[in-house]
Amino acid sequence: MTTLTILPSGKTVDVAVGTSLLKAILDAGESLLSKCGGEAKCGACHVFLLEGRKSVSKTTRAENEKLDSLVGVGSKSRLACQVSVTGEEPIKVELLGALSGG
Ligand code: FES
Repeated sequence: MTTLTILPSGKTVDVAVGTSLLKAILDAGESLLSKCGGEAKCGACHVFLLEGRKSVSKTTRAENEKLDSLVGVGSKSRLACQVSVTGEEPIKVELLGALSGG
């Protein structure tokens, strides 16, 4: 179990190991699009992972390839549907709203 803080709302929730970041964000009542159903194909679930890199799964090849095709991607960019919680270090993400496209 760890905590997930979601910006810009600042909402913090508990998240169990094994939960996908997309699911955790949606369960927290935040809105994040997932047009492809979590297949790393739409890019709509693009978020910035600000803290907690050690608490999440590594970037997959499919995720990297999709990120490469998106606008506004930075070193902290992840596709929430491809990230699962793996550790105890608190996680902080920033939702991008209109920036995430695809
Ligand atoms: S939901 Fe489509 S890439 Fe994540």
